[in-house]
Amino acid sequence: MKNTWDTEKRIINVSNRLPVKINVTEGNISLQNSDGGLATGLGSVFHKYKNIWIGWPGAEIDELRKAEVEELLKPDHLFPVFLSKKEIDNFYEGFSNEVIWPLFHYFTSYSVYDPEYWDAYVKVNQKFADEILLHATEDDIIWVQDYQLMLVPQMLRQANPKLRIGYFHHIPFPSSDVLKALPWKEQIINGLLGADVIGFQTNNDVSHFRNAAIKIGGASIGTDKLTVNDRPVQVSCFPISIDYEKYKDLANSPETKRIAQKLQKQIDTKIMISIDRLDYSKGIIQRLQAFELFLKSYEEWRGKVTFIHLVVPSRENVGGYKQLKQEMNRLITDINGKYGTFDWQPIRHFYRSFPPNMLSAMYSTADLAVVTPIVDGMNLVSKEYIASNIHLNGALLLSDGAGAANELTESILVNPNDITSFAEKISYGLSMPTDQKQKALRTMQKKVERANIFMWANNFLDKLINVTAKKTSTKLVKIDSTLPSRIDTQFTLPTNGAFVAGL
Ligand code: UDP
Ligand code: G6P
Repeated sequence: MKNTWDTEKRIINVSNRLPVKINVTEGNISLQNSDGGLATGLGSVFHKYKNIWIGWPGAEIDELRKAEVEELLKPDHLFPVFLSKKEIDNFYEGFSNEVIWPLFHYFTSYSVYDPEYWDAYVKVNQKFADEILLHATEDDIIWVQDYQLMLVPQMLRQANPKLRIGYFHHIPFPSSDVLKALPWKEQIINGLLGADVIGFQTNNDVSHFRNAAIKIGGASIGTDKLTVNDRPVQVSCFPISIDYEKYKDLANSPETKRIAQKLQKQIDTKIMISIDRLDYSKGIIQRLQAFELFLKSYEEWRGKVTFIHLVVPSRENVGGYKQLKQEMNRLITDINGKYGTFDWQPIRHFYRSFPPNMLSAMYSTADLAVVTPIVDGMNLVSKEYIASNIHLNGALLLSDGAGAANELTESILVNPNDITSFAEKISYGLSMPTDQKQKALRTMQKKVERANIFMWANNFLDKLINVTAKKTSTKLVKIDSTLPSRIDTQFTLPTNGAFVAGL
């Protein structure tokens, strides 16, 4: 069953980044898909119909060209929030990615507590809230996404207490021992408590947030909900997922099969893959170290396995990311220099993003996918690999630090910091008997097929509609639909179902 989210209410989806980014090259403006799990996940369910998506178009746009960009995005119901160079520096790269991202991923020493970053965060969150208020009515569903916009729910609530507001947190929410380092924790917690429903990826995140809301924010405990100024706030776990059928169908498509065959021919060894944005939370260095130890310890594998190492550029102007790139490049050069031969290169490294059918071909040919973040909210790459594995002939080596490890328990779980065990598990994953791989894959495919992105969106929206029931008589009912969506046709494969609200 496939469904996209639609209710009789209009949904105003809000995220820092739109699902497309604007490229300005030599004066020409073009659109490109955004990278990252939020864009891929929500891009699969965003159904433009009467819904809209508000967000930053990913680049600094000259004042004279803003109207042109607005016109370009309007047919897709995308509404840009423009950020100045200073706002990009202090709000996006600064507070979002040099304070919150490292702290919430437990890389506490990477956080830079600059008050200027905080001021920019407050101002830009207000800018987003103002843009939402230009569109929103009390009849709409406002769904705010992720850590860049944690003050927006409260800002909206203060502007109009009757608004129906959901917030989903895509990254981990840290324990109070870590959160206490943040000078602005009280404002952040109270910002989030402006929502009616606050969603997290795991039960751990839920419990960390609930504790903080009670200790630091003004919340008290109700039966299953928190209470804030006599208003119920539901805090629950909604693990994000993927459009399972889309990845399965893509892997089965003749074009993907053609690319996959070519890839298998060109790389005449077993294939191990990793696919990540360049990010210290993804465990890129530890994985390269483990691969080197694997080549050192298991000589019999030399020349018999190739590591396709795909890294998507990300946040290149933020401190920790530049160092990571240097360290990664150094390790790749060392390993290839040390173990490579005239007819075998151990690591084929790519530093760019790939289109969906290329990714699908890599997923479906890989004998082993190594998805080993140190800490990750969920990690959609692991689920995409499972869905694309149509030949039932691959193994998944998954970090126990990824949210996905709670669901994909039949994978080979690894602590990415334990390099010795990591190297052993690479060897184990590559040698796993076919029947074991098939059994594990079948079980995990069933799980991802059932708990897919449509179920995620509908569970969240259902909860939001229930919690705000006094404000509305709407409930979700499933219907078939072929409503057109630019996101469906342009950025993902077509979907053919919809959730529509009825009485
Ligand atoms: N991805 C992509 N192009 C690429 C490589 C990756 O669109 O060249 C997508 C990938 O398919 C996945 C997302 O980027 O949907 C990464 O999401 P994930 O949850 O794994 O990590 P995030 O980047 O959000 O931290
Ligand atoms: C993660 C975050 C998203 C973010 C994405 C890409 O998935 O949870 O909010 O959009 O990474 O990062 P970027 O900084 O390029 O938006």
